[in-house]
This record gives sequence, C-alpha cells and structure tokens, in this order.
Amino acid sequence: MAERPIETADFGYEDVPRQDKARRVRGVFDSVAERYDLMNDLMSGGAHRLWKRFALAVTGLRRGARALDVAGGTGDLAIGLAQQVGRQGHVVLADINSRMLQIGRDRLIDRGLGMVECVQADAQHLPFADGSFDCVTIGFGLRNVTDKAAALSSMQRVLKPGGQLLVLEFSKPVMSPVSRIYDAYSFRVLPWLGRVVTGDADAYRYLAESIRRHPDQESLLQMMRGAGLEGCHYHNLTGGLVALHRGYRY
Ligand SMILES: C[S@@+](CC[C@H](N)C(=O)[O-])C[C@H]1O[C@@H](n2cnc3c(N)ncnc32)[C@H](O)[C@@H]1O
Repeated sequence: MAERPIETADFGYEDVPRQDKARRVRGVFDSVAERYDLMNDLMSGGAHRLWKRFALAVTGLRRGARALDVAGGTGDLAIGLAQQVGRQGHVVLADINSRMLQIGRDRLIDRGLGMVECVQADAQHLPFADGSFDCVTIGFGLRNVTDKAAALSSMQRVLKPGGQLLVLEFSKPVMSPVSRIYDAYSFRVLPWLGRVVTGDADAYRYLAESIRRHPDQESLLQMMRGAGLEGCHYHNLTGGLVALHRGYRY
C-alpha cells in the first residue's frame, strides 16, 4: 500500500509536519513575549506604530460598535479599537498564546480599558457566533497561522453583514533596491538584535523567513476573495514592506 504523504506547513524556510506548526509558533511567542513590544519598536524604528495607526484610521468604527482583534498579542490594535468604540461598545482581544494575551490584558488594564474581553482562541476556529462584529482586525498574525484560508473564512464568518476585515501584515516590497537592503537587514541585523534583546536569535530568523513565505499582496487578495470577502483591496505601506488588506462581508 502506498504511504500517505505527510502534510506539511511552512515554519519560516522549514517545512514541518502540519500538526507541529502551531507548537513551533507558540514556542517563538512564549520565548519573546516579555520583550515583544520593545523589540517591535527597535526593529521597526517605531514604524509599527504608524502602520497600526493607519489600520485604525480606516476601521470606520463608531461609538457602541463591536470589534475583534485576532492574534492581538500585547494589544496595540485592541487598545485603539477600544478607544474608538467607547464604553458603549465591545472589543475582544483574541490570541492563541496565553502569555501574549496576559501581557495584552495587563496593558489594557493599565490604560483603564479593562472592559476589553480577552479570549484565548485560534484564528482558524473563532469561538464567536456568525455575524458578531462590525470590524475584525489581524495585525502581523496571519503569517503565523497554519491554515490561512481557514482563518480568513473564520474571520469572514464572524463579521456582521457590512462589516470589514483588516489584515495588516508584512508583504512584498515593490522596489528591488529596497528589497536588497531589507534582505540584508532581515537576515543579518534582526537575528542579532533578537539575540541581544530577547536572547533568541532563532525567533527573529523565523520572523524574517516567515515574511518571505507569506503570500504577496495579490495572492492574499485572492485568498480573501476565496474566503467570501467582497470589495477587497489593499494599501501598500512603506513601499510594500507592509500591506493593509481590506475586505467586507455583505
Ligand atoms: C507578531 S504577533 C502580533 C501581535 C499584535 N497583533 C501586534 O500587531 O503587535 C503574532 C501573534 O499571533 C498569535 N498567533 C499565532 N498563531 C495564532 C493562531 N492560530 N490564532 C490566534 N493567534 C495566533 C501569536 O500568539 C502572537 O501573539
């Protein structure tokens, strides 16, 4: 009898058995959680704050609305969403990793936003009813998910009709000189910085590799359409280093 081929998933440049990816990703975020925010500032020169601000600027959320931040980690987007919807609204911060979520919850409480609900959940199987949210965000999270199509479908499902999904993620630089500098930075400087700041060079090597294996702008657009999202489009940020994809459920 012919052996069934082992199904694999990308873990950076490695192909690992599909069922192992989530555990490997959890290892990365368990290892860097305490220094995650500092490292974000250092490696992006603070630019991640501008990319997130751009995403928040287009949510279209009003006071009293309901929003979900998937793979929300330490809560940067959830904090912004909570400020937009106010006390009459409802925001959920969801992440698969309990350590990241704990840090996010502490930050929310420190900012007087303890009403944000924190839920440990997998983006591929969101534990919310259909049509629950006006806006769903996922910032720098989709790359880490084993089955991205399942995560997109799950996020589409929990949107209300007329609701919007925002996917903020590293993407493909549009100019080749930028790509060359970016490659040198990603594969030489990032692992070094990761080792100095978090003691884990491999976690930041994974970051660089996982970005290269993530679908480019047009491929992600197709995947969003495949998940049933409509009116899909994207904005390149910082020359395509990052892209914000938007799609609606009608
Ligand atoms: C790079 S961090 C992004 C955190 C935050 N959104 C931000 O922009 O700073 C990626 C997050 O995705 C989470 N994650 C990875 N796989 C996930 C999954 N399948 N479902 C939900 N969260 C996941 C990780 O635990 C981690 O907190």
